[in-house]
Amino acid sequence: MPRHDPALQRKLLTWLLGPLLALLLLDSLVTYATSVSFANQAYDRALHEIAREVFLHVRHEGGRPRIDLPPATERVLMMDQDDRLFYKVSLDDGREVGGDAAIRPPDTAVAGHQSVVFYDDTLHGMDVRMVAARMAFTEGGKPVQMLVQVGETINKRQRLATEIRASVLVPQLLLIVLATIAVCVGVRQGLKPLQTLKRAVSNRSHLDLSPVDDRDVPGEVRPLVAEVNGLLQRLDATLGFQNRFIADAAHQLKTPVAGMKAQIELALRETDSGKLQRSVAQLYVSADRLSRLVGQLLSLARNEPGAVDSVKLQPLDLHALALEITMEWVPEALKRQIDLGFEGADGRIMIDGDTHRLRELINNLIDNAVRYSQDGGRVTVHVRRGAQHVLSISDDGPRIPVEERSRIFERFHRLLGSHADGSGLGLAIVSEIAALHHASITLEEDNDGVGNAFTVFFPPSGSTGLPGTPS
Ligand SMILES: Nc1ncnc2c1ncn2[C@@H]1O[C@H](COP(=O)(O)OP(=O)(O)O)[C@@H](O)[C@H]1O
Ligand SMILES: [Mg+2]
Repeated sequence: MPRHDPALQRKLLTWLLGPLLALLLLDSLVTYATSVSFANQAYDRALHEIAREVFLHVRHEGGRPRIDLPPATERVLMMDQDDRLFYKVSLDDGREVGGDAAIRPPDTAVAGHQSVVFYDDTLHGMDVRMVAARMAFTEGGKPVQMLVQVGETINKRQRLATEIRASVLVPQLLLIVLATIAVCVGVRQGLKPLQTLKRAVSNRSHLDLSPVDDRDVPGEVRPLVAEVNGLLQRLDATLGFQNRFIADAAHQLKTPVAGMKAQIELALRETDSGKLQRSVAQLYVSADRLSRLVGQLLSLARNEPGAVDSVKLQPLDLHALALEITMEWVPEALKRQIDLGFEGADGRIMIDGDTHRLRELINNLIDNAVRYSQDGGRVTVHVRRGAQHVLSISDDGPRIPVEERSRIFERFHRLLGSHADGSGLGLAIVSEIAALHHASITLEEDNDGVGNAFTVFFPPSGSTGLPGTPS
């Protein structure tokens, strides 16, 4: 059971949710900070107003300024539901004019005409927001500078900040939750076709090689499904081919095995030693035939293009190999009084090949030529250099009809009336080996108009990619 690993889903969620949440958080912070800052500015302006109001109540009598703030006015000015207010007026040189002596002068020098600073401070053990405003009036044509300071505890401001937090952050949090849900649902919906596809594939029987339905599959995944379908199709073809082959092979083996069984039964009943000897000799021939058939079946399986994972093709001399094999066939040809000849070229003819397989190819072609020729016939092996190097085996046996020329290379296909022993596998093996060597093979009637000529065209050494499998 494969591990359930929704990596794609997790990745999508991380990439969508991560930045989204970060943005929403940043947005909340910025909104909160600007709201609080605007609210504080409004309160600061009110504080400045009060400072101006206090300044309006400074009187000058006899060169000594003093604050003339009637208690009723002071109550109105300094009254606030939530906060306590304090004020102080001092002259430029630091002399106090009136107000709360505990108020410290501001750290920052308040410079210039009517300029204002706001700052946080502590007063009587409380946090306060202060305004320090420099104001001037003229006395006897001479300007007199004064510093008016008003402080206010920060209860109002704190309450407002709390209220802003609630009114800004709560909707933002809600937005975050909703966005998370939307992204999760969206990603899951978006990936649903993949889940459906996964189920369709995993629920499949291993025997079902029909194409996967790609109708509801997203466009991005369709090429993958197409590739999988292509693979299934190739698998189907290969499996079908192998099933047919196994059935054919079983059928081919059944007859000789049954024959041998009958021969053994007969031999067991034989009492005459001379007859027994003959039976066993016949049994030997049958076993030999069977062994050859099994050998050919194995060879066919070994050289089947799909089964060959890496054939090592190496440069070799076709001329020398063909000559060597022809020589090996001379005794067999002599038995049948067949004139086995070799026509070569000067020097070497290099091709890229696998010696064992090429040997099998040449052996099969010479075997056929010798086997299907009449006694006293003629077989010629011919090698020639060219754009494609040529190996040709011609005989003067019975002509293979034109309509049989392609079918003859199919497995188990024999010509009607072929009396000599055989299984119909030899040429199938030849054509597989030729394909492994990127070689093509033709069957034509022999040049002299009698018999057949099998010709294999090999690409010269180095002209195909090494190592090669058929394309
Ligand atoms: N050189 C040849 N001359 C005449 N007929 C041939 C020749 N080579 C092959 N054939 C025919 O092609 C058939 C298939 O050959 P092959 O695949 O080698 O199988 P097998 O030799 O086992 O029958 C043979 O049965 C024979 O009828
Ligand atoms: Mg043969």
